[in-house]
Amino acid sequence: MSLLASSLGKKYVMALSGLVLSIFVLGHMVGNLQVFGDPYLINAYGYKLQHLPYGLLWVVRLFLLACVVAHIWAAITLKIQNKKARPQDYEAKATVQASLASRTMIMSGLIILAFLIFHLLHYTVRAVPGHQYNHAIIANDGTEYPAEVPLVLHGKTKVDAYGDPLIVHNVHDMMIAGFSYPLISLFYIIGVYLLCMHLSHGVSSMFQSLGLRNEKWRYRLDKIAMVYGWVTFLGYASIPLGIWFGIVNASV
Ligand code: HEM
Repeated sequence: MSLLASSLGKKYVMALSGLVLSIFVLGHMVGNLQVFGDPYLINAYGYKLQHLPYGLLWVVRLFLLACVVAHIWAAITLKIQNKKARPQDYEAKATVQASLASRTMIMSGLIILAFLIFHLLHYTVRAVPGHQYNHAIIANDGTEYPAEVPLVLHGKTKVDAYGDPLIVHNVHDMMIAGFSYPLISLFYIIGVYLLCMHLSHGVSSMFQSLGLRNEKWRYRLDKIAMVYGWVTFLGYASIPLGIWFGIVNASV
């Protein structure tokens, strides 16, 4: 049997793809938290990412997509293999002992996938009806923000190689307008909660699959996984909440 067809091989695929995605989730959160600073920060960050040299942005995007596909493939095929291999009563006993997060991994995974698709349509493709952001970004109360702005740092406009003002995508106000819709904010908070609990359980199983979780380290690694889950949840949830409580103000 080839390694990929075996349960062990699939567990490795799940663990490694999950590891890459968990690192991305942490990095993306840190990047997004810049919304609490000067609008220049997150707008310049978005600009830098979108102008990475050598088509690197697309390399990273395709790599992340490959990880998502591999992760889902391994999850589904492992589930089918386990169902075939396990007698019914064993499964019932195992279910009683397993935590809520571990029992609902497939379900939370599917909701997270729906969240991710909505999120990409909302902020990357900007194709959610009412959120197209072609010229202006319109908030829930009708306030209009320009979709693009000059990059301004400490009152000084940054210029390009020709001395023209550097025009960047207004990521800062796009977030303010995006989260001015209560249902969208709620959907994000629920989505990131499920994601972070899924990741927290995933990180702990990953240590097991990679053979790193012996008895001595079990407790510490489970704690690391739990801290990871809560830090990412609170970091992401603080963004819509910060906007709702007026901690993040529009730049224009
Ligand atoms: C409060 C939560 C979040 C906020 C405010 C947020 C914000 C954003 C923004 C503003 C962009 C577009 C960046 C740009 O236009 O330059 C973006 C892209 C993206 N986000 Fe999030 N995000 C959140 C949560 C997440 C989560 C939990 C995930 C992963 C599961 C995620 C995955 C992505 C991906 C894959 C992209 C596309 C990157 C690209 O290829 O351009 N985001 N996010």
